[in-house]
Amino acid sequence: MVELQTRDVFAAMRTDLQRVEARVEQAAAIDVPLVSSLVLDLVRAGGKRLRPLILLLAGRGYNYDLDALVTAAAGVELLHTASLVHDDTVDRAALRRGKPTLNTILSSGAVILLGDYLFAQSAILAAATGNPRVVAIFASTLADICDGQLQEMFNAHRLDQTREEYERRIYGKTASLFAGAAEMGAIIGGAPEAHVAELRSFGADVGMAFQIVDDVLDLREGAQQLGKPAGNDLRQGTVTLPTMLYSAELSGSPVDAQLLHDVVAGEIDGPDVDRLVGAIRKSGALEQAMAVAADYAERAKSHAEIVADESTRRLLVDIADLALARSS
Ligand code: IPE
Ligand code: IPE
Ligand code: MG
Ligand code: MG
Repeated sequence: MVELQTRDVFAAMRTDLQRVEARVEQAAAIDVPLVSSLVLDLVRAGGKRLRPLILLLAGRGYNYDLDALVTAAAGVELLHTASLVHDDTVDRAALRRGKPTLNTILSSGAVILLGDYLFAQSAILAAATGNPRVVAIFASTLADICDGQLQEMFNAHRLDQTREEYERRIYGKTASLFAGAAEMGAIIGGAPEAHVAELRSFGADVGMAFQIVDDVLDLREGAQQLGKPAGNDLRQGTVTLPTMLYSAELSGSPVDAQLLHDVVAGEIDGPDVDRLVGAIRKSGALEQAMAVAADYAERAKSHAEIVADESTRRLLVDIADLALARSS
């Protein structure tokens, strides 16, 4: 059922997404041998294009100015791509979209510069919309992403984190771009201000659900299918919602508590991490975290109700379902 919805939403928007695709490839072109083909491979490696999809849909219920929407959507996808390039370098991740990451092929210096180049290209696209509000959202979103990533880095290896701290982090690193994409689409579409605000909230809630699901998938069986490494969050001391929920219910078991503490502190690795992942899976924490993600998806759907056009509203609801039901 969800698969059907998923196919529908992408099928409904396919032609416009193909235009975004062409724009992204054009903007990602870089005149440096080797690097140019690596970047193109990354761009073509099968990203889900969720953020551009949300941007297009947020504009669809109003004045569908396709040229400006495609330009902004390509900018959003490139901003996302640039943040992945830097994220994998920071995380020392080996795989992205099923392929070796740039940081396993190039020096860190080269990868940082390449990420910066892609950030700059995304800003050029934002400016090409000719809309100063869109440019302002781009800039503040990039600041939010960096804030989220810095919070994650500087709060690593700490088990005593609050839900508020976790939420701020995932809002910054992930939900802010979903929120910004929806807001930009609505602004370019000329939606009334109340609609712009609701659609921004729609994007933010979809983004929160999306990142919580990402954190669950990292711990779930079959995580390797994601095309990125499994159990990576724990290995780098990143405490996510499932781990927080597991930790909160551990009071009676000093052995399990010690294992959790040692893994998060980065004091042990290897099979002990797998043992901890197994214990988290058995505890019900993944299901509890999914229930929190489902609440966000429901809230997103209620924000979508402001859109009068029925087919657009239905596609927005499909996106909220998709964020929740995804397995990759
Ligand atoms: C990955 O985002 C980064 C997160 C916010 C979890 P996506 O899962 O949307 O990545 P692609 O673009 O589809 O590869
Ligand atoms: C990355 O979050 C978010 C950004 C790229 C800003 P994660 O670190 O959870 O994403 P994955 O798991 O590497 O895709
Ligand atoms: Mg990462
Ligand atoms: Mg992750």
